[in-house]
Amino acid sequence: AESILETIDRLCAVVPNYPTPGVTFRDLTPVFADGPALRGMVDALLADFEGTFDYVAGVEARGFLLAAAAAYASGHGVITVRKPGKLPRPTYNEAYSMEYGTNSLEVHIGDIPHGSRVLVLDDVLATGGTLGATARLIERAGSSVAGIGVVLELDGLGGRENLAGYKVRSLRTY
Ligand code: PRP
Ligand code: HPA
Repeated sequence: AESILETIDRLCAVVPNYPTPGVTFRDLTPVFADGPALRGMVDALLADFEGTFDYVAGVEARGFLLAAAAAYASGHGVITVRKPGKLPRPTYNEAYSMEYGTNSLEVHIGDIPHGSRVLVLDDVLATGGTLGATARLIERAGSSVAGIGVVLELDGLGGRENLAGYKVRSLRTY
């Protein structure tokens, strides 16, 4: 049978010069669109963190897909980590820079019960700015990062170094 790694390689689309010249974009939408591939990604991400977390956090937008599926499969709830201005009640905010541009992320104060263990999922680890900011949000809320799971890790952008100290699991590195 095909491994999840082989499935990702077969279905992931490579887009040169997107969103800016010089960037090679790995597009996972065909992997998400494939039923067995989606289930395989979620199961593989959960396997390394079984029994170690109380919530699954998803990073807007593509991380939401993985987090909701993983939370449902494991019987836990989802924490939504959002781009600024989307959450209606008071938030923590953490700024970050990424491969192309800067932004910040927010989480509602009170959405994560103090002392929770939170598994963070996203589709891609590039510079680690996004997941670093997400980890800081969880810690500011008085909780801990049980681990960080991504489908793709883009090598040479410093992502893993920026997340030093966390248990980081990726299904595929390019
Ligand atoms: C992408 C991707 C990760 C992040 C990785 O999201 O889904 O969240 O960039 O980059 P980094 O490791 O350099 O921070 P993007 O901000 O493009 O948002 P989207 O999911 O809304 O498309
Ligand atoms: N693919 C998808 N998301 C990304 C990428 C990429 O190559 N780089 C930063 N976010």
